[in-house]
Amino acid sequence: MPEMYEIYEKHADKYDELVRAEDYQNNLRNLLHETVNWRDLSVIEGGVGTGRVTRLYIEQVASSICCDRAQHMLDFAQVALSEHEEKLKFLRADNLNIPDLDGGFDLFIEGWSFGHSVSDCSTADEIKSVTDILVHNATKDLKPGGVVILLETLGTNLDFPGPPHEKLNIFYSELEQKHGFQMKKIRTDYQFQSNEEAARIMGFFFGEKMCQSVLKRNNAIIPEWTGMWTKTI
Ligand SMILES: C[S@@+](CC[C@H](N)C(=O)[O-])C[C@H]1O[C@@H](n2cnc3c(N)ncnc32)[C@H](O)[C@@H]1O
Repeated sequence: MPEMYEIYEKHADKYDELVRAEDYQNNLRNLLHETVNWRDLSVIEGGVGTGRVTRLYIEQVASSICCDRAQHMLDFAQVALSEHEEKLKFLRADNLNIPDLDGGFDLFIEGWSFGHSVSDCSTADEIKSVTDILVHNATKDLKPGGVVILLETLGTNLDFPGPPHEKLNIFYSELEQKHGFQMKKIRTDYQFQSNEEAARIMGFFFGEKMCQSVLKRNNAIIPEWTGMWTKTI
């Protein structure tokens, strides 16, 4: 099974198969629209992947600049979102180094990509400075009153929510305690055709251990917990 970064460089189609099965109850879509009136907003999205989060808001907004480090993911997203092409720009950019976009944006959103930069860190101090950079990059192009939304995992195929490892625990604590983000937890469960399909698709992305634990659950619905961190600047 390939490593996650290799998936983002070469296997956007298989990644998309996974995320299209997620949140079959539409809890994330509902929470995003309860939290923000998206009508006519100008948006920047970090780590856009295949456009799963973009699809949840693109019909309402005026425009979105979709960033990702992997050109392969950007190419896939551009095709997948082509019916909205007049509203979209695609930009190859690392979350740790988003170029200055001249301000004036209403909202920054990212889903499940800031956590990668945190997981790459070696020490708690490094996590804290990477968190400062990520939060700076999420806010620097927003106008006063702009909104930041960060979506990150609180556990896959687990019965209770929580940071899956200590690095994310530090990141989430920094967001809440140092940077003043508010957090909400939701279920964004996957629904597949069968338990075997769940094990195949989830195993491809998360690895053999996840494949085996999904098979043990013996269900086509697999729990996923998601945290949404928000802040108005
Ligand atoms: C788990 S996927 C999430 C994609 C999408 N947001 C979604 O919800 O399906 C992570 C994405 O973040 C991108 N990514 C990972 N690290 C990144 C970084 N440091 N800067 C920008 N993008 C990054 C990957 O290329 C990948 O497309």
